[in-house]
Amino acid sequence: MYKWLDERLDLTGLYQKVLRKAFPVHHSFFLGEITLFAFIVLVLTGIFLTLNFEPSIREVKLPDGRTVPAAYASVLYIDSLPFGAVIRSLHYWSAHVMIAAAFLHMLRILLSGAYKKPRELNYLVGLALLGLAVVTAFTGYALPYDNYAVTATRIGYGIANSIPWVGTTLAQVMFGGEFPGSEKSIPRLYSLHVLWLPLLLMALIGAHMAIMMKQKHTQPRYAERVAPGRILGVPMYPQQLVMMGILFALYVGIMTMIAGAFLARPIEAFGPPTPNTPAVKPDWYFLWIYGILQIIPSSWKFRLFGDTIGPEFIGGVLIPGILGLVGLLLPFVDTRKDKMRYMELPSEHPVRTSVILALLVFFLMTTLAGYKIDFQQQGSLLGNNAVLWTLVLGGPLLTYLVSYTLLRIFYGKEEAPYKA
Ligand code: HEM
Repeated sequence: MYKWLDERLDLTGLYQKVLRKAFPVHHSFFLGEITLFAFIVLVLTGIFLTLNFEPSIREVKLPDGRTVPAAYASVLYIDSLPFGAVIRSLHYWSAHVMIAAAFLHMLRILLSGAYKKPRELNYLVGLALLGLAVVTAFTGYALPYDNYAVTATRIGYGIANSIPWVGTTLAQVMFGGEFPGSEKSIPRLYSLHVLWLPLLLMALIGAHMAIMMKQKHTQPRYAERVAPGRILGVPMYPQQLVMMGILFALYVGIMTMIAGAFLARPIEAFGPPTPNTPAVKPDWYFLWIYGILQIIPSSWKFRLFGDTIGPEFIGGVLIPGILGLVGLLLPFVDTRKDKMRYMELPSEHPVRTSVILALLVFFLMTTLAGYKIDFQQQGSLLGNNAVLWTLVLGGPLLTYLVSYTLLRIFYGKEEAPYKA
């Protein structure tokens, strides 16, 4: 059978070319793989959910006599199936892990300079993947159609709508009309969530992997000492694939335990949507944007070419957009070392490392600002806008100065040579 297939498909050639590729062994390289595993689990659990979910807000009667939207009822049904609640929770937690792992994977790429030539293109594909992963998670948010999900999604609808000139059209396209209210919203978000965005993610992940295989990984620094100028690593088959198999099994095992112990948001607790808006915050990866929206003064508003630029647009689109643009341009601005082969050490690049740390503190402080109303209710000083602004601007600045100074003191001015 193998011979028959080999004669036609050149399996031996494929084996030599692809499966004998050397994979460097370094713990930080597992972050990309964990992102991949989370995506695979999301697709598998998503298939189960799709088979039982009804993407509609038509009114249906529950056995207890209540009348609720069909989408809401179908999630209650999923929870009642054997292992249904665990599979839904596995889907929910894997979405969190995928975004967290992709973010940490991006940090590793940034801190080790792996975005530089020749990997600019794969870095851009990676950025697109992270953006798409977040958008996919967002489109899944409203689907259970409980009061919590609807309120949180409404914040996103407001942000999309606030984009000048094109926002109304964009929001209509994405949400299928006004959200909440339009009957088309859930089918629209559903088709984006289960079809278009996953297909796009799959295509881009495929491209990401293909480019990485073609360009080969950056090499861990020990490779410079052990085998200078050569690619060092274990073959993809069998060693790397066995390691990946073990890691995948560990991922599924640990995540299933977590999903069993901490079920996804119980939609019974919030009930179907009502005119009363519960006090909700978006998930952690949106909390920083939500935080900016909390502290931007409502007076930040002006007219431009016949439309209004308002605080919602500035906080929800403009500031994240500027950060995204800086990320996109990075490999074309930081071109100090061409033909990047070995991972750079964060200590060798005090400016870059300190900027990254400062940005992390910015995300942390804006996330803190997301709790402004809670702080106000507790009478805490952190409920004050001026204090929060000081933290959001001063925190990153201070972090940069401290980190840069320490790196310079401990690692010197020049790029420190790698010591074996
Ligand atoms: C869905 C999201 C993503 C998946 C599934 C994914 C997967 C992977 C995997 C499995 C690898 C090889 C192992 C490793 O180096 O960690 C890799 C490498 C790489 N990824 Fe990603 N990635 C994703 C997002 C990103 C993001 C957000 C960035 C950066 C903005 C990025 C940039 C890169 C680069 C430049 C490489 C090559 C690294 C090197 O040669 O050292 N990826 N990715």
